[in-house]
Amino acid sequence: MQFSTRLDRFGDEVFSSLNERRRELEKQGRTFYDLSIGTPDFVTDEAIRKALADAAMDPQNWKYALRDSDELINEVIRYYKERFGVTLRAEQIASCYGSQEGIGHIGMVLCNEGDTVLLPSPCYPVFIAGAKMAGAEPWYYDMSERNHFLPNVGEIPEEVAQRAKYMILSLPSNPMGSIGTEELYREVIDFARKYDIVLIHDNAYSDIIYDGNEGGSFLRFDGADEVGAEFFSLSKSFNLTGARVSFLIGNPELIAAFKKLRSQIDFGMFLPVQKAAIAAMRTERAKVKAQCAEYQARRDALCEGMQEIGWNIEKNKGSMFVWAKIPDAYSDSMTFCLDLMDRAGVVCTPGSSFGPLGEGYVRFALVLPAEKMREVCQAVKQSGILSRKG
Ligand SMILES: Cc1ncc(COP(=O)(O)O)c(C=O)c1O
Repeated sequence: MQFSTRLDRFGDEVFSSLNERRRELEKQGRTFYDLSIGTPDFVTDEAIRKALADAAMDPQNWKYALRDSDELINEVIRYYKERFGVTLRAEQIASCYGSQEGIGHIGMVLCNEGDTVLLPSPCYPVFIAGAKMAGAEPWYYDMSERNHFLPNVGEIPEEVAQRAKYMILSLPSNPMGSIGTEELYREVIDFARKYDIVLIHDNAYSDIIYDGNEGGSFLRFDGADEVGAEFFSLSKSFNLTGARVSFLIGNPELIAAFKKLRSQIDFGMFLPVQKAAIAAMRTERAKVKAQCAEYQARRDALCEGMQEIGWNIEKNKGSMFVWAKIPDAYSDSMTFCLDLMDRAGVVCTPGSSFGPLGEGYVRFALVLPAEKMREVCQAVKQSGILSRKG
């Protein structure tokens, strides 16, 4: 068989060597602390599961949905008003099967082959895949430690800004866990307006933000819906990762173009999932906040525990990830991950999988309770991996 050259744009699965080694060790009876994948371990609220289960018993709900129900769209409008103070109209909202899928398709909505796209580095991998799928060329703006893990649009050369079609901004960030200020958002919106760049804000962690900071919507800023839109995922706030629910919200022309592309391949979100999404957005705010406090306790247990054993890991400010510089004795994040798994039984993700500036780091997902995080630190200490000489 011959496959498209498009597939050659994507490298081999980064996790394959890690997974292979893990399977070998599991066959020998080893068990692991798995902090590699950002899928929440919290139980999805009963009201959400019940909404889905009840709707699934109605045979009418097994037909093609064809569109987002009015009830779903009205719930998004209500949620944005109450939660973020943002007033929306129905034509500003389109659902998708998770931000992952939406971001995977956004390049095809906005770009022709060879166009330039501004992406953060390090970044969540689908940002890169979405650009490549469209045949666009990523231009990475530096969000490394040098820039305090934040965008610095002043560093983007004029000629790159002139030709860029869209830019992805994502805060709180994955994998770095950095958060934005109001001033930063205004600066990036002004930059996008000046160079006529579509700004896509990926807002996956609006409810996972620490130390008294509050997450919000980028649409609360003047001019935001003139320059772009934001992906609003229900995955992390409401533990809905498997149900695949997100929305692209913002500029009506962009939303119409996004719907046009997706309507070629999609017959609408399963109606029981739409019902679950409505129930999710009605979750009591106190529950979402309590969950965020638990994430913060996990972060504190992991970062403080590692600091105590001599690994100086900074606390992330938001998101469910801790971004840790690998010990000096290592130069390659994959080698370090393999060693950490072998010697300490802790699985994490190599920084090299998050784009060009991810090397030299690993990412831990906060998906185990605080007491397990303390065990993780002890396991790392006992492995002796931190005192290895280069
Ligand atoms: C920054 C970011 N965007 C999007 C996603 C995926 O969200 P969804 O589950 O809506 O596809 C994730 C998941 O980890 C993420 O970290």
